[in-house]
Amino acid sequence: MCGIIGYIGKRNAIPVLIHGLKRLEYRGYDSAGISFLKDSKIGVRRCSGKIKDLETLIKKEKLKSTIGIGHTRWATHGRPSEENAHPHRADGIVVVHNGIIENYFELREGLKKRGHVFTSETDTEVICHLILRYSKSGYSLEDATREALKHLEGAYAIGVMNEAEPDKILAVKKDSPLVVGIGDGEFFIASDIPAFLKYTRDAMILENGEMAIITRNGVTVHDVRKNETVNKKAIQITWSPAMAEKGGFRHFMLKEIFEQPRAISDTIRGRFSLEKGEVNLKEFSLTESQLKKFNKVFLVACGTSWHAALVGKYMIEDMVRIPCEVDIASEFRYRKPIIPEHCLMIVITQSGETADTLAAQREARRLGARVMTICNVVGSTSAREADGIFYTHSGPEIGVASTKAFTTQLTALYLFSIALAKAKGTRNLKERQGLLNELLQLPEKVEKALYCHDAVKRMAKKYYDVRDFLYLGRGINYPIALEGALKLKEISYIHAEGYPAGEMKHGPIALIDNNMPVLALAPDDTVLEKILSNMEEVKSRGGKLIAVTVEGNTKVNSRTPDIIFMPGTNYYLTPIIFSIPLHLLAYHMAVLRKCNVDQPRNLAKSVTVE
Ligand code: F6R
Repeated sequence: MCGIIGYIGKRNAIPVLIHGLKRLEYRGYDSAGISFLKDSKIGVRRCSGKIKDLETLIKKEKLKSTIGIGHTRWATHGRPSEENAHPHRADGIVVVHNGIIENYFELREGLKKRGHVFTSETDTEVICHLILRYSKSGYSLEDATREALKHLEGAYAIGVMNEAEPDKILAVKKDSPLVVGIGDGEFFIASDIPAFLKYTRDAMILENGEMAIITRNGVTVHDVRKNETVNKKAIQITWSPAMAEKGGFRHFMLKEIFEQPRAISDTIRGRFSLEKGEVNLKEFSLTESQLKKFNKVFLVACGTSWHAALVGKYMIEDMVRIPCEVDIASEFRYRKPIIPEHCLMIVITQSGETADTLAAQREARRLGARVMTICNVVGSTSAREADGIFYTHSGPEIGVASTKAFTTQLTALYLFSIALAKAKGTRNLKERQGLLNELLQLPEKVEKALYCHDAVKRMAKKYYDVRDFLYLGRGINYPIALEGALKLKEISYIHAEGYPAGEMKHGPIALIDNNMPVLALAPDDTVLEKILSNMEEVKSRGGKLIAVTVEGNTKVNSRTPDIIFMPGTNYYLTPIIFSIPLHLLAYHMAVLRKCNVDQPRNLAKSVTVE
């Protein structure tokens, strides 16, 4: 996830680009840059850091231009640095890009053989060189770009300028968002509407395969696949600027919950071959024979990431049959852990900067474990210090309460378990293909799971003024009960506990009376009958029950009228689907209690102290 902006018109483009980038900073903030045309020459200014660092860099120059493109980066390929910051340039061609070019490595090698010189580690740079290659053969910017696109696999929203065609910006979209703003004699491109909302409310939303050719006289849209002009109408945006920044959502947390189908798609994109039933191991820096040797796995993390680690234990032990230990990072580092030979430590951290997690990671390496991190922030300390990395490409998470980072961590663990199962020979080709096929359907199922929004809102209205809340789960969904409780505690300040349902009779059942709501996770799996009995126990003591189950399961109907139905999936992926109503419930209860959802009291997004 990155933010792109472009401007052509009568104003000075530089402040327009900077303003747009600031509005897009929520999409990425590790480096930034602009390019513009001055005295018929393309200029590029880039730096690592935030937009304010870019502003400081260009301040003294007092730059002026009436055309330019800009970018704020969230690194996916190549660490955050000035060289890897956008715009990227090849001779007179400059490009800003949001997305991932899956086949960039092969393309780059091919272009190098033809004499192209690369200066960054990014996937984006191949786009400039491909466009350059075709423009050198006499193609116009739009034709050269159209030819270049034929080589690209993956997702992109790109903005392009060419020194040789000084009054033109191109914008192309496939699977990454891109909008065109239509002002009075001026035009904008942006990843998101807030970037230009200050100047115009008229916008064209580009669809996949569409290319906007923008000159000072207007905008023409082409469908590059059909090679025909599209008669596209502008729409009027009615959002307020504050709403627009959050994509029309009231809070970042809600936006991030609804971003999950996209975030999961980005996390799995290019990571496996269904045909071979194989997970791409390149990024882990591990070979299959190294994987085969591991006979013990430690999973270490804090908070919500620790809940992902707990689910990971169920996935790995069930799929791969090797023992896993799960630790809260602050406990691991002080408990004198015993690290046997051939031991893998999986560290899970959204930020990659959590102090306790980093200390545990360092301790495990000191004791001889090989460390792999599942991390969302490219170039973070955890990623830099690990032996192998699995980046969850969920994009920046702004809400303090983790949502999309959690479900993409679970997705990463699922993929890693399949890789380990292949190396260890515990899942054959057909079984692995079945598992990967189910994963392919996951973004769509998560989309469907989000339909529960209205039902969850009704339940939030019913329960938002309670004092306590219990969450029950079993097996692989027990950590999801913990996660539901943590979310409710941290953003609504209601006291909540998650329990393995079988433990109720050993103490917590004493808490049940007619003031106690109990949410039971009841997937249609081998422990369904057990959880139904636990629900009976709650009901007979007057507790108020909410059930989360799968479509078609009528067995819960006699226990409670408050049921949330979720789409069915396999055993290992149920935690991803079931966490959705729980995150939404915590969100709506917190909103009804007028809590600061995105910045709950006493909390910080990155816990960089012990
Ligand atoms: C809860 C939450 C925290 C984090 C924890 C670890 O919603 O977000 O519990 O999960 O602070 O943070 P990372 O994953 O960045 O190490």
